[in-house]
Amino acid sequence: MDDRMVSGDVQPDEESVEYSLRPQSLAQYIGQGKTKENLKIFIEAARMRNEPLDHVLLYGPPGLGKTTLASIISNEMGGQFRTTAGPAIERAGDLAAILSSLEAGDVLFIDEIHRLPRSVEEVLYPAMEDFCLDIVIGSGSEARSIRLDLPPFTLVGATTRAGLLSAPLRDRFGVLSRLDYYTTEDLCAIVERTSDIFHVDISEEAAVEIARRSRGTPRIANRLLKRVRDIAQVKGEAVISKDTTQHALTMLQVDQEGLDHVDHKLLTSIMDHFKGGPVGLDTIAATIGEESQTIEEVYEPFLLQMGFIQRTPRGRLVTNKTYEHFNREVPGA
Ligand SMILES: Nc1ncnc2c1ncn2[C@@H]1O[C@H](COP(=O)(O)OP(=O)(O)OP(=O)(O)O)[C@@H](O)[C@H]1O
Ligand SMILES: [Mg+2]
Repeated sequence: MDDRMVSGDVQPDEESVEYSLRPQSLAQYIGQGKTKENLKIFIEAARMRNEPLDHVLLYGPPGLGKTTLASIISNEMGGQFRTTAGPAIERAGDLAAILSSLEAGDVLFIDEIHRLPRSVEEVLYPAMEDFCLDIVIGSGSEARSIRLDLPPFTLVGATTRAGLLSAPLRDRFGVLSRLDYYTTEDLCAIVERTSDIFHVDISEEAAVEIARRSRGTPRIANRLLKRVRDIAQVKGEAVISKDTTQHALTMLQVDQEGLDHVDHKLLTSIMDHFKGGPVGLDTIAATIGEESQTIEEVYEPFLLQMGFIQRTPRGRLVTNKTYEHFNREVPGA
């Protein structure tokens, strides 16, 4: 299911395109007003004091711009941008090597920071708090610990699962920012910005159409735009029209609310087989042939967020909105 048109996760062929689409400065970063405002103040203050920015934790669903924001922080602070990811650091020594290669003012970005092994995490605590590294040399009764100073740096951590972060790690971040789903307006601005970079013209109506179906997520908006552009190009359309956009997105099975065939299968099976619910997660999973965990972690969050599904103690329930979306009569109405 990784190749869903509406998946927030990055797809294998997208990485290089994404790189070229990344805004470079806070001013170019669209939306996320509160986060941007706060960061702007913190960055200015840190620069005035000639100190590194406090460590920053960015959390929120995939594709909302955490990596982008981390690299912007580094641009704005003027240090090098060093990146790694939780699963890539297996041993404490790996992290110690990265830390000791940092230079003053660098930004160290750790993606998926919730996946750092605990033993590695412990190396981070003194590094974040006091800019130092405790190293044990020798072994047995000869073992002794020495403290190495590190240059002042900023750690930017990103996670889609803030709840999985240990409390001691979370507490060491001075700035915690949650990224929210984008408004249609902001996504529309993102679609227009991306069109400029692609050197294609798009009508405002068409941009709004893409924005509406992008599930609040810039990565999805850019992906849909790319596919719509291809179809418009084949049709020889100079300015991407609303009509072509609607046709293209219908062909790609992304409906007006950004739901795809997987969402449809999930929602219609609750309506068709369980009278709209409540029905237990495991029962749904067996009915549509998916893992319960996948449903809970991948399919459901957006449907819950948009009010197509409700979670109750007795199981999942579809809402009136769902019946209306599928042009069905609301039971008991
Ligand atoms: N505020 C924004 N303005 C313009 N473009 C954005 C913005 N946020 C994200 N994007 C675009 O969306 C794409 C995905 O963003 P990014 O890779 O930063 O997301 P992420 O939150 O790090 O995702 P993941 O959780 O998968 O790591 C980028 O290519 C970027 O161009
Ligand atoms: Mg990322």
